[in-house]
Amino acid sequence: MAYETILVERHERVGLIRLNRPQALNALNSVLIGELNTVLDAFEADRGIGCMVLTGSEKAFAAGADIKQMQDYSYPETYLDDFITSWERLSRARKPIIAAVAGFALGGGCELAMSCDFILAADTAKFGQPEIKLGVMPGAGGTQRLTRFVGKSKAMEMCLTGRMMDAAEAERVGLVSRVVPAADLVAEALKVAKTIADMSLPVAMQTKESVNRAYETTLAEGIRFERRVFQSQFAFADQKEGMTAFIEKRAPKFQR
Ligand code: CAA
Repeated sequence: MAYETILVERHERVGLIRLNRPQALNALNSVLIGELNTVLDAFEADRGIGCMVLTGSEKAFAAGADIKQMQDYSYPETYLDDFITSWERLSRARKPIIAAVAGFALGGGCELAMSCDFILAADTAKFGQPEIKLGVMPGAGGTQRLTRFVGKSKAMEMCLTGRMMDAAEAERVGLVSRVVPAADLVAEALKVAKTIADMSLPVAMQTKESVNRAYETTLAEGIRFERRVFQSQFAFADQKEGMTAFIEKRAPKFQR
């Protein structure tokens, strides 16, 4: 299926989604979010996909929500249509999804990257929440997710001044998992995604769910949740296969 604002590829068990509005630095308009959500639904329903990668272009992952679309919005429209709600599909994905960020990841672009499970950054990546310069504040999770990633002091400074953070700083403060040369970004993201996609799919999904639980609950509740899920994994054939393969000194063949 052809899309107007994204490009979609399959690399064996990895689904690759490229944001593709080059004339607007991949600014996130309602068409793009709708198309992204359609592809997420399709990849999630497809047993042949074990992991996804979301990326942009060399110049921009995404330069934020589309300011030209938002400029004339009224309060009743933003309240009644609640357009940001449709952006939440990504954070509800059950399968692992990696953000591969080169260039600008600003405003909603930074928020979209943070809604993925982790961020691989090119050395050209620049992150920021510049909404305050437009007379608004982050509206797609930026004040909450950035604070959880980098702590209060850094998040407060970023959101109040709108300054950008380069890739080295983003790695130092834990916003991104790793920085790679820009030319290698997509290949590296696909390689990492393949590693994940080759694991047991239900176990990878449950691992994602458990790590995310750490952001939603107390330590004691999170540990209890982890214990129950761990115990339940002994019902999967993949547990027998993984442990038997280790003992037999061979690669496991997970069922998925
Ligand atoms: N929305 C709409 N169009 C955008 C855009 C955006 N967020 N960001 C860039 N563009 C457009 C520009 O208007 C320009 O279009 P024209 O050629 O038609 O003028 C084109 O993309 C190229 O942009 P620039 O000429 O500005 O490129 P640059 O290299 O000089 O600057 C930039 C790059 C620093 C990223 C600059 O474009 C910029 O500051 N963009 C806006 C960033 C921003 O404020 N993002 C937050 C948006 S609000 C938000 O996201 C709310 C939320 O939390 C949900």
